[in-house]
Amino acid sequence: MIKHSELISSVEESRTMAISSLVKKLQAEGKNVLSFSAGEPDFPTPEFIKRAAIKAINENFTRYTANEGYPALINAIIKKFSKENNLEFKAENILVSDGAKHSIYNLLMAICNPGDEVIFQAPYWVSYPEMVKLAQAKSVIIEAGVEQHYKITPEQLEKAITPKSKAFIFNTPSNPTGAVYSKQEIEALAEVLKDKKIYIISDEIYEKIVFDDEEHFSIGSIDFLKDKTITVNGMSKAYAMTGWRIGYAGGRADIIKLARNLQSHSTSNAASISQAAATAALTEPSDEIPKMVSMFKERRNFIYESLNKIDGIKCPLPKGAFYVFYDVSHFYGTHVNGYKINDSSTFCNYLLTEEFVGLVPGIAFGNDKCVRMSYACSFDDLTDGLNRINRALAKLK
Ligand SMILES: Cc1ncc(COP(=O)(O)O)c(C=O)c1O
Repeated sequence: MIKHSELISSVEESRTMAISSLVKKLQAEGKNVLSFSAGEPDFPTPEFIKRAAIKAINENFTRYTANEGYPALINAIIKKFSKENNLEFKAENILVSDGAKHSIYNLLMAICNPGDEVIFQAPYWVSYPEMVKLAQAKSVIIEAGVEQHYKITPEQLEKAITPKSKAFIFNTPSNPTGAVYSKQEIEALAEVLKDKKIYIISDEIYEKIVFDDEEHFSIGSIDFLKDKTITVNGMSKAYAMTGWRIGYAGGRADIIKLARNLQSHSTSNAASISQAAATAALTEPSDEIPKMVSMFKERRNFIYESLNKIDGIKCPLPKGAFYVFYDVSHFYGTHVNGYKINDSSTFCNYLLTEEFVGLVPGIAFGNDKCVRMSYACSFDDLTDGLNRINRALAKLK
């Protein structure tokens, strides 16, 4: 037997994608599956963005662009960072990649040496630990459970930092919890990072999807962290552009240069047509985003209230993104027809096989007490899904 890469063999399949594949398989078998597992808006990409892409095709904007992104898009990103995030960059500070995921991957590869430590919290976005593994670094995970509203404290961050710490990945608003760190909370974390030799990768992909009186604040805008922070964002979530694959990073030129070099030998430039579409999204005025956000908010209110009416479910109020992350550990130890529920995976399997409801087990995000449910779907589906969940839970003994 010829041995394959040990490093790549150690990487797990994305569990959210694994659930989506299982849901698709059941749907193909004709089952009426309701999936709340997808991490993408259900809205179509706004018309003005699609028009820009069609124009790009018609004008033959279909060749390679500069590896790091084409100048009009880089300019649009510089302006966006300056206007919305209080971050000042030049062209040499920007990298456009095939999605924010790709940007984060490039950055971790650019920063880490074998044995370095990368700190982030649990619940975390599924890809962080696997990307850290690919960069041959070690994940240092800070637990932030429901009792602390899924947010870490400055004391926890301080404790996690060692001489081997290389980077801290910070994600607000959060996938999977919907937690949003306030400016004061971010400033308190920043104080801890102030004199440490540690980079911050700030994943702000959900920045525009915040509710109530929350405001997104970029950690990189804090003066003493400007030089240490690389801010990542992208088009997927705010502009309903998941399939277009455009993400970007802004930060110090030496790191961006390394990430660009890596990209130049792996994927090269992001798709030219998608870059043209992203440029339109970032530069043309539009009221599509507030409309989407207000629909997400209505759904969030509905799902939050409905879930908390179910005995045994603890669901904190998410302040951003489009997920609820709730504690179902009350049901562990129960059973039905010989099937025992003892963790988030058996809980999700039960709901999928009993009532064809697709949720993502919290273990995928480093918290086995919880499950993630996306509300990027219609009210009808949410209502139907809640009825099914209620029915399935009522059968448990
Ligand atoms: C927290 C977080 N970061 C980054 C990404 C990557 O987004 P994309 O690669 O589509 O830009 C996602 C997507 O699910 C996410 O949830």
